[in-house]
Amino acid sequence: MNIIELIKNRRSCRKFTQSPVSTESIEQLKIASLLAPTSKNNRPWEFAFITDKEILNKLSQSKPHGALFLKDAALGIVILADPEKSDVWIEDTAIAASYIQLTAEALKLGSCWIQIRNRSHSETLSASEYIKKIIGAPSTLKVACIIAIGHKEKERRPYNSNDLLTDKIISNHY
Ligand SMILES: Cc1cc2nc3c(=O)[nH]c(=O)nc-3n(C[C@H](O)[C@H](O)[C@H](O)COP(=O)(O)O)c2cc1C
Repeated sequence: MNIIELIKNRRSCRKFTQSPVSTESIEQLKIASLLAPTSKNNRPWEFAFITDKEILNKLSQSKPHGALFLKDAALGIVILADPEKSDVWIEDTAIAASYIQLTAEALKLGSCWIQIRNRSHSETLSASEYIKKIIGAPSTLKVACIIAIGHKEKERRPYNSNDLLTDKIISNHY
């Protein structure tokens, strides 16, 4: 499938079957993560690949809303970065997340972004600090997001031309 078809077909998937993600697919996702471009080629990110059910269950409670479905995913990729290594680590991690989501689609897997940066676990603990404790991440890193991945329970309708907000495109001048 070409890249435009992949982009049209990728829809957030929050319901997964029980089947595991194959070792080959995990390998492809690791390659895609590490090939994502970064400013000045700084590569300030790290990717924690989580398949352990108990850890996924704990991570699904990172924030009060919008993460619970991670407990039923076969794989969660926690994307972290060291802000000391790049002033644009947020952009770098977002690009890697998009690479991962499109690669998942190419592998016929479903995925969904779970926002962690700027989100709270509780009144006294950020979602990022909660996650770092669970996976033993160094204090120098911040968690940007988690990408939940698994086999889709069902296919969603691909995007088509009716979905496009064409007035968001400006040609030459406002
Ligand atoms: C920066 C960002 C943060 C997101 N955070 C969450 C989230 O925390 N939980 C969730 O269920 N979906 C999250 N999503 C998924 C969006 O809700 C979804 O991409 C959007 O509704 C468009 O639907 P689509 O992915 O099917 O095109 C996030 C997406 C982006 C790009």
